[in-house]
Amino acid sequence: MTADPVQFVTYCGSKANRVVPVKTTRSVGPNDCLVEVTHSGYCATDTYFTAVPMGLGHEGVGVIRRVGPAVKQHKVGDRVGWGFVHEACFNCKQCLSGGEIYCLKRKIYGFGNLDQGSLATHAIWDENFLFPIPDAMSSSVAAPLMCAGASVFGSLQQRGYKSTDRCGVVGIGGLGHLAIQFAHKMGMEVVAFSTTEAKRAEATAFGADEFVVIPREPGTRLSGIRRIDHLLICSTAQPDYHLFLDILEPRATIYPLTAFEKDVTYPHLDLIFSGVTIQGTMIATKQGFIDMLKFCVQHNIKPANQEYPMTVAGIEACNTDLKAGTMRYRGVLVAEGADRSSETAIEPEANTKAEAEAEPETVTEITVVVDGEKNGTNGTNGTNGANGKAEV
Ligand SMILES: NC(=O)c1ccc[n+]([C@@H]2O[C@H](COP(=O)([O-])OP(=O)(O)OC[C@H]3O[C@@H](n4cnc5c(N)ncnc54)[C@H](OP(=O)(O)O)[C@@H]3O)[C@@H](O)[C@H]2O)c1
Ligand SMILES: [Zn+2]
Ligand SMILES: [Zn+2]
Repeated sequence: MTADPVQFVTYCGSKANRVVPVKTTRSVGPNDCLVEVTHSGYCATDTYFTAVPMGLGHEGVGVIRRVGPAVKQHKVGDRVGWGFVHEACFNCKQCLSGGEIYCLKRKIYGFGNLDQGSLATHAIWDENFLFPIPDAMSSSVAAPLMCAGASVFGSLQQRGYKSTDRCGVVGIGGLGHLAIQFAHKMGMEVVAFSTTEAKRAEATAFGADEFVVIPREPGTRLSGIRRIDHLLICSTAQPDYHLFLDILEPRATIYPLTAFEKDVTYPHLDLIFSGVTIQGTMIATKQGFIDMLKFCVQHNIKPANQEYPMTVAGIEACNTDLKAGTMRYRGVLVAEGADRSSETAIEPEANTKAEAEAEPETVTEITVVVDGEKNGTNGTNGTNGANGKAEV
């Protein structure tokens, strides 16, 4: 049974670049589940959207409180998680060949379902993009796996690796510290590349066999490093690709996960002569999520979390720590015990109106046009072209 509509609170960005509690009113559709959010990880991608009036967060975990009449995969009381992709058509070439995350009718974070996110009291999602959390895994451990974990695991799994390969991980943050653990447990030798010498001991504990401080002086080359087969770029700033091409095995693969950054220039001739692949990837497929969760339980892979209360103050503190570079290694917002007594949720129109009036504190390159949200696509479908601007 559904008793619509449902009202809950979603923590949204705002033009003033502050987190605002906003009332969300939604129906539980036939294939939907109402989830009470208990935990949410906080990804660097969220920092790009805090100046946009939309629901924040895409590393959610919670408990199903209501299901639509056609829901088959879940039941009330189940613990589930979700990530970057919310919907797909399941009837197109991509969907029918296991590439539903690349469906041209998909809805993804920041480009569809803008009225809700994982930083919230509740959310309503299509059952197809809710993933059962294994009993042996805590919800706090599961949350960062919903984007950070799934993105790095999915990259390696979708493109293939051998346990005799060498895997480089550039940038040891939320994605990077999980990438080291995955690659190590997949049997690969792992080389961590970091701008922060102080992360050496922890990177080694995560499973890195070698730790290299990325040289900052222009013209410096990397040397004395055995060649690498897979290079996961997990840094928030684009690295110098010239530097890394020097130490790649011919026919190696680069996975440039860094999002919403300026375009990069690759040394074109080096690519041709070395047969290196630059492989775009975005999160894990549905099957990839299931495999990842199983793999984490089997190999005791866990994110290193810093917890904050799921409140405006907690989210803003988490955002500040992440941007300051002091996060070790993933912020997780926790609903239980969070004191929201001083928070008053506003109507969505008030946040949009405030947007029109506020002076932006931070300039963001991302433009989200809510009007077009009905179909969730903009022709480029969240792949927003060379100028870094997107319309939905
Ligand atoms: N494609 C996808 O599917 C996908 C999914 C999720 C996230 N992302 C993107 O992946 C990136 C990483 O996300 P995250 O949540 O892991 O971020 P994060 O926790 O902030 O980690 C990023 C790491 O990058 C390094 N770094 C920070 N500032 C840097 C700078 N100015 N120059 C060079 N390195 C710097 C730091 O590592 P060191 O101290 O070790 O250098 C930092 O810990 C973001 O751009 C995010 O938007 C992409
Ligand atoms: Zn993310
Ligand atoms: Zn499709």
